[in-house]
Formats: sequence, structure tokens, C-alpha cells
Amino acid sequence: MSKVYVEGIANHVGQEVAIKGWVYNVRSSGKLHFLLVRDGTGTVQCVVSKADVPQEIFDRCGKLTQESSIVVRGTVREDPRSPVGYEIAVSDVELVQQAIDYPITPKEHGVAFLMDQRHLWLRSSKQHAILRVRAELIRAIRDYFDSRGFLLLDAPIFTPAACEGTTTLFATDYFGEKAYLTQSGQLYMEAGAMAFGKVYCLGPTFRAEKSKTRRHLTEFWMLEPEVAYFDLNDDMDLAEDFVATIVARVLQRRRKELEVLERDVAKLQRVKKPFPRITYDEAIEILRRKGLHVNRGDDFGGDEETALSEEFDRPVMVHRYPRKCKAFYMKADPENPSLALCVDMLAPEGYGEIIGGGQREDDFQTLEERIREHGLPKKAFSWYLDLRKYGSVPHAGFGLGIERTVGWICGVRHVRETIPFPRLMGRLTP
Ligand code: 4AD
Ligand code: MG
Repeated sequence: MSKVYVEGIANHVGQEVAIKGWVYNVRSSGKLHFLLVRDGTGTVQCVVSKADVPQEIFDRCGKLTQESSIVVRGTVREDPRSPVGYEIAVSDVELVQQAIDYPITPKEHGVAFLMDQRHLWLRSSKQHAILRVRAELIRAIRDYFDSRGFLLLDAPIFTPAACEGTTTLFATDYFGEKAYLTQSGQLYMEAGAMAFGKVYCLGPTFRAEKSKTRRHLTEFWMLEPEVAYFDLNDDMDLAEDFVATIVARVLQRRRKELEVLERDVAKLQRVKKPFPRITYDEAIEILRRKGLHVNRGDDFGGDEETALSEEFDRPVMVHRYPRKCKAFYMKADPENPSLALCVDMLAPEGYGEIIGGGQREDDFQTLEERIREHGLPKKAFSWYLDLRKYGSVPHAGFGLGIERTVGWICGVRHVRETIPFPRLMGRLTP
């Protein structure tokens, strides 16, 4: 008898198999028990007939509880009514462990409760679908860059200095010195781009976000490519091609999961090149026309991003924000030095900013001045300034937030469900 996974059951019709899994549900009607058994790859109905199994096994099945672990043996048969197309005629059931009072029942639970039970909540079908989309997205990202000559270059987690502003740093003691959890791998990718031309990193990043919003985690994953001899336009071309490609890939490979999530895939099918590109000033005009009060010079928040994205049926790229609301490393627009050569990509349907990036300041003196203006410790940035001393070239890159992108693709409003174990202000467990 072979051990099989539910996902591969179609190859075993008529055979005796063993499924090792957990009880999802039991229904009984006199001479029959219907066990829904999940094994992580899928759920299959297992029919236990009083006539076919010893009385002891039949009775045991009647007492099975939700999430008890069991090994079911039986014969696979076709069943067009079943969601997987097959069911199992059971000959034996072995109880591995009886679960008592599993806290998540089919009734509705509040989100706070479910977040406390996150270690168990991962077993539910909606969470399965989201996390499979996440895994597919990460695979698509890697494939995209690996197949285009980019080198994967892992960035450090412990860092001596801020990349994205000092207000969201997590500090930790590093043998008597202060270290910070990385906010972004960008500065290291810049060193990598000068060494290898085209690089990317994909890993966890940390920000002490003190605001409770549906878009902010304190630990989130970011994809960050960086390319030498790239300007802002090249950067936008890359971001656009990249996002269109990964969305198409998830659509192609995770259709079933998107169905479980009841995602309107027609909206995702519209994510095709070219994406609209507007300047910050044009964005301000749109926002004012829509009745939002925005100060020219301020960065956009969630409300502005949502309002802007409503105007377009695909991601929109907003470029050339005022330099003063952006990070120290951004290159000034030579045509208007008060603007930065930067770009944010806003996802449609109000999912907010998924990409931030742009062209980097490549002149030694200017960058040194910026570091001073921003009150950053010069010593911690001396290696970064070296990159402008030894063969500095124009270069650009961007960062894509994995969780916001998963949220958008899945149609899940809050980022907390898009990562296995979310870290938010006020949530460190499980
Ligand atoms: O716009 P950000 O801050 O850009 C950077 O960190 C650059 N250094 C990236 C680069 O150019 N290499 O962050 C990039 C993206 C955002 O667009 C957003 O998708 C995501 O990271 N992000 C967050 N996601 C979840 N929770 C948070 N607190 C996030 N902060 C940023
Ligand atoms: Mg940003």
C-alpha cells in the first residue's frame, strides 16, 4: 500500500492507499461515516461503511474530532461530486492523536481571536490559498531576476545605520555597540551593483512603525533589485515589466487559490504594460480635483494612494516627488533640483504603494552633503560614500513589498494575513 498525498490521488484510482492527515469534519448517518481528511495538499472525503470495516473501527470513526491526526487506508474511487473528483472507500483508520476542543470551529470568529490562534489558523482553506499565492509570487520573483542575469546577493540584517529615516529604527545591542535591524537592503545592493552590474536581494526588513494601518507590518519582506548604469526611466521600465510578469505568472499557476479567495481575476488580467506614469504634480492635481486637501510638498498617505489608484485600472507610477519628503540618497532632478528622481508604484483598487525606488545620488560631494543635512552619522556611511569615490556611475533600483503585493493579488485588505506569522505593533505572538 502506498502513502499518497491528496493532490496526487488521481494517479491511484482503484488502488489501496494510505492518507496521513487530519480530520477536517465528520458527518455520520447510521451505517456510514463521512470523514473529510486534509493532508496539507488537499482535502478528500473518506467514506467508512459499517459493512466494510470491523465494528471497533467504525465506532472509532464516530468519535473522531476536528483536527485529530489520523492515517486512513482505503481504495481510491472516482466521485464526480467531490471537489477533488475522488473519494476513498475506507478499510482502516488509525488514530495518531485525538484533538480535544480545537478552538477554531466552522462558526465565525473575530480577527483578534484568529490572530491569537495564528499557529492553528494556518490550517484553514483561505489561509492556505493566500500563503500558496505568496510562495508562488516569491518563486516568480526569483525566476524573473535569475533568468535576466541578475545576481542574488543577500543583504545583512544587522546594520550600523538607517536607510529609510531614523524614526522607524529597531535598535539592538551588538556587543556593547548599537546596531539596527535593517530597514532595506538597498545600500548594500548599491555596492553589489558596482561589483556585479545587476543584483537583487529578497529578505526580511524591519521598521518600528508606530501607526496601526492595514498596510504596515514591523517585519516585512522586500525584493530589491539594483542596476548600474540605470536611470529613472530604465528603473520604471523594469518595475513595470516585472510587475506585469509576476502577476501573469500567479494568475497562470494559482487560479484555484484565487477562486477560493473569490478574487475578481478580470481585474488582475488588466495588469498589462504600459502602466500609466504621472508626476507628483499631476497626482496633486488629480487629488485636488477629487476634493482631497493635500499640501504640495507632503508625501502621500494611505488615503491619497487609495484615491489615486481609483483613477486607473492598473498600477500607476508616480514619479518626481519633492526631494524633502523622500530619503537622503535620492538623486535630484537636474531640471528641477527640488524634485527627486524617484518613483512609487501604487497598486489598483486601493491596495496602496507596492514599490518605492528611483535613481540614486552618485556624486560624492552632493551625497556627503545630504548625509549631513539629514543628520546621519558620517562614520557609518563612509563605506557607502566609497562607492562614489571608486568608479561611481548612475544607478537605480527599487523595493517591492511582498505582503502588500500578496494582499493586492489575493484581494485581502489587511497585510496581517499575507505573511505566516505577522509582526505588528502590539503583536509579537505566536
Ligand atoms: O518605499 P520604501 O520605504 O523604499 C525602500 O525601502 C527603498 N530603500 C527600496 C529600494 O529602492 N531598494 O519601501 C519599499 C516598499 C514599499 O513600497 C512597500 O511596498 C513596502 O516596501 N513597505 C512595507 N510593507 C509592509 N509594512 C511596512 N511597514 C512597509 N514599509 C514599506
Ligand atoms: Mg515608499
